[in-house]
Parts: sequence; structure tokens; C-alpha cells
Amino acid sequence: MRSIPEFKIGPIPLLSAIRFARDPLRFLRLGFDKCGDTFRIRLFREFIVTRDPAFFRHVLQQHHKNFKKGNSVKMLRPVLGNGLVISDGDFWLRQRRLVQPAFHRERLLELFITMGELTAAFIEELEQFRGKAAIDVDAKMMGITSDIALKTLFGNMNTEDKEQIYRQVSRTQTYLVTRVRKPYRLPLMAVNGEDRRFKSDLAYFNSLVYDFIRKRRLSGETPNDLLQLLLDSIDEETGEQMNDEQIRDEAITMFAAGHETSATGLSWLLWELSAQPEIVARIRKESEIFDTVPGFEQLIQMPYTRQVVEEGLRLYPPAWTMTRESTVDQEIEGYGIPKGSSVFMSIFELHRNPNLWENPTAFDPENFQAETVKNRAKFNYLPFGAGPRICIGQQFALMEMQLVLAALVKRFDFVREPGSSVGMHPQIVLKSTNGIKLYTR
Ligand code: HEM
Repeated sequence: MRSIPEFKIGPIPLLSAIRFARDPLRFLRLGFDKCGDTFRIRLFREFIVTRDPAFFRHVLQQHHKNFKKGNSVKMLRPVLGNGLVISDGDFWLRQRRLVQPAFHRERLLELFITMGELTAAFIEELEQFRGKAAIDVDAKMMGITSDIALKTLFGNMNTEDKEQIYRQVSRTQTYLVTRVRKPYRLPLMAVNGEDRRFKSDLAYFNSLVYDFIRKRRLSGETPNDLLQLLLDSIDEETGEQMNDEQIRDEAITMFAAGHETSATGLSWLLWELSAQPEIVARIRKESEIFDTVPGFEQLIQMPYTRQVVEEGLRLYPPAWTMTRESTVDQEIEGYGIPKGSSVFMSIFELHRNPNLWENPTAFDPENFQAETVKNRAKFNYLPFGAGPRICIGQQFALMEMQLVLAALVKRFDFVREPGSSVGMHPQIVLKSTNGIKLYTR
């Protein structure tokens, strides 16, 4: 059996951990350059890091039963509870069966109408910035995708709660990522107010969601939103329904997994398009078939816009990594993987792997031209993961991104400050370092 090369920058593992925490993408790239597509690295504990599609296939599909979610994702448990992103085994399977119907095609078509209405209002709101100071694109995209997520999940919500949620989500993410990447800060966080603020943010989220559940149960109303689907879903085998805690966990999971991902994906797309007038022109050409926002049938007639979205998710995959823990001793691609190993799969590096992509760092929607896609191995491109745990919201997200992008590009030119650049800052999702600012014309 082969042994996995180790990536080491010196005798002290803490140095690696500090450099990883400072700039994970650059640090891992060094490892791939030095060791190839798979290597071991000791941070605060050991990880097997990979960008090899055969590893992804083994872990996510062929032998998925030999893995569980593992420690890295468990840091999210205080927020996501036992929701789909976190749970494992029989409990996960049962929950997945209960939640899956919420994302069936007919349901999505109904949610698409809500997405369209909110996007049309958003486009009108943006008009006030035309020709004025640059807009904070991340904030605007988070605004529209969280509006869409909250309305499709819970129905109507007041603006004050929405704004409060929006502020807290970003704070909570920074807090959780810091705990994992910089565990040496834990004692400080206990006394400097960060732990306390996290707890109060969480208490606020919880009370809001439980309130929604309670009011809905009492109201006797059955509107067409995801909350109602969670309340109504019945396990076909056992006839059981979810209790309030499970509904809370799944609703928060969908909100958390489902809005910042699409928002950052859209932000990166607008950033790229601000330097790609030819691509913009092609999207506009396709957009001639609708007025303000496309309907679902029109979306299908806009394949190039879809290619642009897919290319954005290649170059800037919002969920930039997935991790799993091996539950048995096993062999992957000739390497011995002992039970308990943590496998860190970099989607970001898979999508930029020079052995798989010609010109990997160029933004080129032709990568998603139908014929090219047909000839490409499935596991070379995985923005939504793969196998039984593939993203449950994949179609929702693709529809939403295509809809919002087409509507924005049809109405506005997005212009960057000449000479400006944007760095990548991977937290749970792949954010930008200091935000993306663009002028609307
Ligand atoms: C561009 C947007 C999105 C991206 C890039 C994305 C990416 C992913 C990825 C890579 C996974 C697999 C994680 C793993 O296997 O470790 C995943 C899982 C998941 N996603 Fe998404 N996602 C997006 C949007 C959404 C939306 C809109 C929703 C819900 C409305 C959602 C809900 C979920 C859930 C519940 C899971 C866990 C599924 C399971 O383990 O059974 N995601 N997502």
C-alpha cells in the first residue's frame, strides 16, 4: 500500500495551523504543489487533504457508508442542532426522506413565483443607486437571498427581524470559524463577551423559529412554504412526524445552508462579469425574452445564462470544502486510510485542478457547453457535493441564481473601480476579503 505524502513546513505543527488559519487557500495550494493531489497535514490534528476526483467518488458515493460527517462540521451543532447537514446514519436517512418532498419539482415551481416577486422588487430598489456611489454587492446579494430564503421558508416576516437575523448570521459564522481555526483564542472568547453574544444571538434565533412553529400550528392555516411542508411531512414507513425541535433544526439548517451560499455565488459572478463585457452581452441577448424577471419556462430557454452560473460555481464554489471521518480501516486509491482519519475534500482545488481543467483559473462559461459537460467525468465538478448527501437545495439554488443574475444583468451595468482587485476569504462559505464593491450604471 502507498503511504500518503506529508506536507510539513517545519518541525512544529502549530506553525502550519497558524499559516492555515491566516490563509487556508494559499497554504493548501502550497501543499498540492509540493505533494500532488492528496497529502497529509497536521494542524491541531491530522487531516488527509485531497483534490483527487477518485477520492471524492470513493468517499461520497461508492463507500459513503464507511464515513460520517466528523468533527469539523460538528462545530455547527449548537446552531444547526441535529439537522440534515450534521446528522448521520439512520437518523439522517429518516430526516432526508421527510424533507426531500419539499424540494420536488412542483413545489419548486411554486417557490419560484415567490423568488420572482422578491427579485422584481429588489431590482426596483436597486434603481436608487444607479449612477451613485458603489454598492456593497455582498450585502445586497445577502439581502435578496435571505429575503428569498426567509419568505420561502416561513412566509412573511417583519423587516426588523429580517435585519436582525442578517446581522447575526454573519457574526455567528465568524465566531464558529474562529473557534475551530484558532482554538487558542477560546479562553479569551469566554471572557471578552464573544461567547455571551453568541449565546444571546442563538437564543434570539431559537425564539423566533419556535414562535413561527407555534403560531403556525395554532393558526390552522396551511400556506405554501417550506415550514408547512416540514410540519405536514410524514414518514411513510412509520407514519411519524417531526417534533418541534426537529422542525427547528431542519428549518435553521435550510436557512443557514441555503442563502449565504447563493449570495456569495452571485457576488462572485457580478465581480467576474464586471470585467467580461462579451459574456454580459450574451446574457442580455438571452434576456430579451422577459421584461423584469424571467418566468420558469423562460429560464429554460436561457442555457447560456445557466452556463455562466455553473462556471461561477466552478471558479468560486461557495461551499469550498467538505469533510468526512472514516469509520473503518479502508483503502482509497492504494492509500491505507485508518479508521478515525479525517478527509478534507477541497472542492475549490478540485475545480481548479490543472490535471482536470484546461486553463483552470480563467472564467469561461464554455466549460459548461452541453457537449463539453457530456464528455467530462462527473466527479470533476461538484459544487453541490455528490452521492446520497448531495445538496438537497441544488435545484432551488440554481434556479434562484439564474433568475437573479439574469434580472440584474438585463437592467444594470456593474462596473468596477479601475485597477481594483478582490481577495478570497474562505470561512464556512467562500467569501471575499473586504467585500465586493461595484458601481451600478
Ligand atoms: C449555491 C448554493 C449552494 C451550494 C454551493 C450548496 C452546496 C452544498 C454542498 C457542497 C453540500 C454537501 C455537503 C457535504 O456533503 O458535506 C450541501 C448540502 C446541503 N445543502 Fe446545499 N448548497 C447550496 C444551496 C442550498 C440551498 C438553497 C439549500 C436549502 C434550501 C441547501 C440545503 C442543503 C442541505 C440541507 C444539505 C445537507 C444535505 C444532506 O446531508 O442530506 N443548500 N450543499
